[in-house]
Parts: sequence; C-alpha cells; structure tokens
Amino acid sequence: MDSYRGFGRFANYFSEFVLLLAFVCILVPRAQGWSKEGHTMTCRIAQALLEPEAAEAVKNLLPHDVNGDLSALCVWPDQIRHWYRYRWTSPLHFIDTPDNACNFEYSRDCHDEHGSKDMCVAGAVQNFTSQLSHYTEGTSDRRYNMTEALLFLSHFIGDLHQPMHIGFTTDRGGNTIDLRWYRHKSNLHHVWDREILLQALHDYYDKDMELLLQDIQGNITDGVWSDDVTSWGHCDDISSCINKYATESINIACKWGYKGVESGDTLTEDYFLPRLPIVEKRIAQGGVRLAAILNRAFSSESEAQPADHHKNKRASHSPT
Ligand SMILES: *[C@@H]1O[C@H](CO)[C@@H](O)[C@H](O)[C@H]1NC(C)=O
Ligand SMILES: *[C@@H]1O[C@H](CO)[C@@H](O)[C@H](O)[C@H]1NC(C)=O
Ligand SMILES: *[C@@H]1O[C@H](CO)[C@@H](O)[C@H](O)[C@H]1NC(C)=O
Repeated sequence: MDSYRGFGRFANYFSEFVLLLAFVCILVPRAQGWSKEGHTMTCRIAQALLEPEAAEAVKNLLPHDVNGDLSALCVWPDQIRHWYRYRWTSPLHFIDTPDNACNFEYSRDCHDEHGSKDMCVAGAVQNFTSQLSHYTEGTSDRRYNMTEALLFLSHFIGDLHQPMHIGFTTDRGGNTIDLRWYRHKSNLHHVWDREILLQALHDYYDKDMELLLQDIQGNITDGVWSDDVTSWGHCDDISSCINKYATESINIACKWGYKGVESGDTLTEDYFLPRLPIVEKRIAQGGVRLAAILNRAFSSESEAQPADHHKNKRASHSPT
C-alpha cells in the first residue's frame, strides 16, 4: 500500500489516524461494504476469468508491489474513503432507497445526501467503467487516473452486489438495526458485510478463505450455478445492467435481509443457514460481472460506452 500514500510522512501518520477512525466508524452508521474477505474473493474470481487483453491491461495498471494481484487492492477504496482528498468517494459505496419500497429507480435514488446526482454506487460503476473503456483506445483523459478507476470499479461492483448496500434510508442500510449475532453485538448491515462469511469460515472452512473461495469457484465452473453463469455476465447496455444488479440487491435485502428482523433480536443458525448460499452467490455474481465488464472495457474490438458513441451495441456484445 505504500505507493498509495501520496503525501509522504504526513500521510503515513494521517492514515494511521484514519485507520483508528475507521475502527470508530464501525460503531457509527455506514460501515465498510463487503468485508475484506468479500471484496478479496470477488476480485480473485474476476481476475481468474479475464481474457488475455484484459489480464494484460489489469497487470499494467496495478502498482508493482502487488505482483499483479488485483485482489490485494480491492479494499483500497474503503481504506481511503475518509481521507480528505477522497471524501467525495464516500457516497459511492451504497444507495439509499425509500423505506420499504423494495425497489430501485436510478433517477430517484442515485444521489448523495445533498442531492448531487449520480453520486451512488450505481453511478460510480458507470463512471469508472466508462473511464476504463478509453484505456485501450489511447484516448484516456488525463484528468482520470486509470489505476484508481480500476480499483474503484473493482470495489464498487462488489458493493453493488452486497444486498444491504442497496438498503433503506432511515436505517442506513441496516446500520442502525443493532442486534446480536450469536453471542456478540453487531448490526444488520454488518451481518451481511461480514458476519455470515466469518461464520461460514469458522464453521466449515477452518477459517481458511482459500477453501471457501475454491468452493465458490467450483460452483461457478461446474456446480450449482454453472448453467447461469453466462447469463450473469451478459450485458447489452451497461446502465440497464447496473440498474438490474442494484434491483437484485434491494430485492434480496427486503426478502432475506430485513424480513422478520428487528432491533434487539438475536440472530443465529436459523438466520445464517438459508442466507449463506445467497451471500456466496452474490460474491460469485460480482466476480463474474466484474470480469465481463473488464473484458469488454479492455477489448480492442470494444467500442466506447453508449453515452459517448451511438453505435449499435448488439453487434459487438452478442452472447457467446
Ligand atoms: C494514480 O493513483 C495512484 C493511487 O492513488 C497513485 O499512486 C499514482 O501515482 C497515480 N498516477 C498518476 C499518473 O497520477
Ligand atoms: C467520476 O470520477 C471522477 C474522478 O475520476 C469524479 O470526479 C466524479 O465525481 C465521479 N463521479 C461518479 C458518479 O462516480
Ligand atoms: C458449492 O460447492 C461446495 C462443494 O463443492 C458445497 O459444499 C457448497 O455448499 C456449494 N454451494 C454454494 C452456494 O457455494
């Protein structure tokens, strides 16, 4: 991470402070997004599915100290979101939808708390996808840092698939719903960010994330989801695909996240067992879709995003 601290020594102290602050922030509304584990697995799944051109581009964009491993930096956007210079990225991790509406409408919901349009995770995914699509054209705008665009995109695709990141406004995506997870204190948002995954690692995988990741990857190539995987990644029009992914999340949040849960509850096996496969599927989908987006963005045959050019999209994005 050292190459990411652009301000020298002050930044080092400052980031220690930020880390401390980040711990404090776990206690206050609006936590992190998929945990480290969730983001890492999403990015590992994606990187393994890259075609040669995209794999090459990703390798070129990553700083040398991560040895070509995208997943090593997929939590970076969580680490810098409270830095002064990156405060604008804070609203890009989630979407607040109207309480109990259980749907997502871009024009109604994609804004920050001051009403700035597009400042939400759906707008961010679109933004950074569009920035990256200029990379192979060699027309990349110097205002944009392509390394950062890659890291932001990789992270925000993960967040977009964490169901409680597309949650209700009043409870801040479940952050203010305090409860017990087995025997310790937690909140509903954090249950989906991390508790379910940690419980699975503890109960079934001897706390080894590699084993859990292998199971998820096995189910993508030759298991419970293998028939659906092509359709997950398929996309004719990026903005409608992003809206679809956000809609899936809020639908899951309503049906499996919020339903039957109240502040003060204690959640255990009855909650954990049916939801683990959902969490695993969202991580798999996030990974497959991140790969598909990067494969399209970095393909030399790909055209620019529809917002920039009005060509017929179907010709080049037909299903394979
Ligand atoms: C792009 O961003 C990264 C991470 O913040 C930074 O280390 C790098 O120096 C930046 N590159 C340019 C060309 O500004
Ligand atoms: C898009 O990215 C640029 C920086 O690269 C940023 O200034 C802008 O706020 C971003 N907008 C969204 C919606 O992410
Ligand atoms: C995936 O595969 C493993 C074993 O191959 C299995 O134990 C696991 O429950 C499967 N399901 C999901 C949703 O990952």
